[in-house]
Amino acid sequence: MADPDQLFVWIHLPGSSEPELCGRASSTQGPAGRTGDFLYRRKYLERPDAIPVDPVRLPLTNTVQTTNLLFGHFSALLDAGPDRWGKRMIDRAFGPQTEYGYLRHVGDATTGALAFSAVDEEPWHAEPPRYESLEDLQEASRLIELNQPVQPELERLLRNGTGGGARPKTTVRYKDSLWIAKFQSIDDPAALPSNPKVEHATLLLARLAGVRTVEHELKLVGGQDVLLVKRFDRQPLEGGRWARSRYVSARTIFYSDESYARFSFSGSYPRLGQEFRRWVAAPAVDAAQLFGRMAFNCLASNTDDHDLNLGLLSDDGRSFRLAPAFDLVAGVHATRRLDLGMIVGEFGAAATRENLLSSAERFQLDRESAAAIIDQVETVVAAEWRRCFEAAGIGQADQAKYQQSFCPPGFRDPQPPVPRPAVTRRKR
Ligand SMILES: Nc1ncnc2c1ncn2[C@@H]1O[C@H](COP(=O)(O)OP(=O)(O)OP(=O)(O)O)[C@@H](O)[C@H]1O
Ligand SMILES: [Mg+2]
Repeated sequence: MADPDQLFVWIHLPGSSEPELCGRASSTQGPAGRTGDFLYRRKYLERPDAIPVDPVRLPLTNTVQTTNLLFGHFSALLDAGPDRWGKRMIDRAFGPQTEYGYLRHVGDATTGALAFSAVDEEPWHAEPPRYESLEDLQEASRLIELNQPVQPELERLLRNGTGGGARPKTTVRYKDSLWIAKFQSIDDPAALPSNPKVEHATLLLARLAGVRTVEHELKLVGGQDVLLVKRFDRQPLEGGRWARSRYVSARTIFYSDESYARFSFSGSYPRLGQEFRRWVAAPAVDAAQLFGRMAFNCLASNTDDHDLNLGLLSDDGRSFRLAPAFDLVAGVHATRRLDLGMIVGEFGAAATRENLLSSAERFQLDRESAAAIIDQVETVVAAEWRRCFEAAGIGQADQAKYQQSFCPPGFRDPQPPVPRPAVTRRKR
C-alpha cells in the first residue's frame, strides 16, 4: 500500500463481543524516517466508557498523537498482531506486508482487545476450530515450515488462529475456552526433548516456585507433542462469542516512555518494576511477583525472556496487572556466564544472585525480602526440577542434559565491581 500506511483500529470494550471503532492509525515515510499518527474517533471519545489504547502513550484526547519510535509505529498496536510465525502465514497468502499491512490482514484474530480493518467496516471474524482438528492443523504447520503447499481451508484456519511469537502455533476451542496450541518445530534440536515437553515441565516448576503461570496441558497428537496454553485474553460469552481483555507487552511499557525508549536499546526488569507504579493497580504485589519471575529465569536458565514474553492484562481496560507467565523454557547453555533477555540489575543481564539483589529496591523490596524470594525459588528449583521433567515424560537420559540448567553453577559467582564516578572535592 502506498504511503501513508493506514489502519482502522477497533476495541472490544470490557465484556463485549462486538468491536467499537476507536480511531485511525497511519505511518508515513518522511525525509527523517517514518512517523506514526494516531487519532481517536470523536464518537468514541464521547462514550463515557471509552478506554485508551495505551493509557500512557495514547491517552484519550482529540488531537493527533505522533511517534517516530519503532520506525513510526505504536507498540500497543503491534502487540495485538503477528510476529514471525503469523507474518510468515500472511506472506504466503498475500505477499510481504508493511507493519500495518500485517495488522489489516489479522482482522479480529488478535492478542488482547484490539482488532483492525483496512476500511471503516467491522474487522472480519472467524471462529477458531475445535480441538479435534488439531492433528490436521499440526500436519499443515509442518508442511508450512517445509514451504510446501497446504489444503487452503487448513491454511486459512491456521492463519486465523495465529497471534504473536516465532514458533508454529494456532488457536483452538477446548473445554469451553480458547487455547493456543504450540507445536513442535522442524527446527528444534533433535538432541533435546521436544520444546512442548520442556515448556510444560518449566511451567510446572515455575508454579511450584511461586510464579503465577498460565494454565497448560501437554498432549500427544498424531505422535507429536503439543502444548496447550489457555488464552488469558478471551472469556466465553453466551452464544459462542468471546469477551476480550486488554493486553500490552513489556515492550509497550518501555516504548510508552519516550525518555526511556529513545536512549535504551534493551528491556529492563528494574525499569519495569518501576513503571508498575503508573501502570498497575497493585504495584508492590506485581513488582514482587516480577522479581520472583526474574529469579526463576536465572535459576532455570530461561534466557529467552525478551520484552514480548511478558505483559500486562486488564479486564476493565483501565487498571492493569501482571499477566500470568508464559513461554518459560529451561535452556541448555555451553557457558558458565548466563545473560537473561533483559537487564537484571547493576551488573547488566548477568543471571546471578548478586545481580538480582542489586536491584531489589527497584521492585520495592528490601534486601532481606529479596534474598528470601531468591532462596525460596532456588530451594524449589533444586528439589523439584527432576520431578517436573518426569511429569512431562522426559526420561533420565534427557534429564542429564539439563543438569547444569537448574541452579546453574555460575549463579553464585561474584560480580566484578561497577566503576563509580570519582568524587571530586571542590577547592574553596
Ligand atoms: N496464554 C496466552 N493468552 C493470550 N495470549 C498469549 C498467551 N500466551 C502467549 N500469548 C501471546 O502470544 C505470543 C506468542 O506466544 P509465545 O511467546 O508462547 O510463543 P513463542 O512462539 O514461543 O514465542 P517466541 O517468539 O518468544 O519464541 C505472546 O508474545 C503473547 O502476545
Ligand atoms: Mg514468546
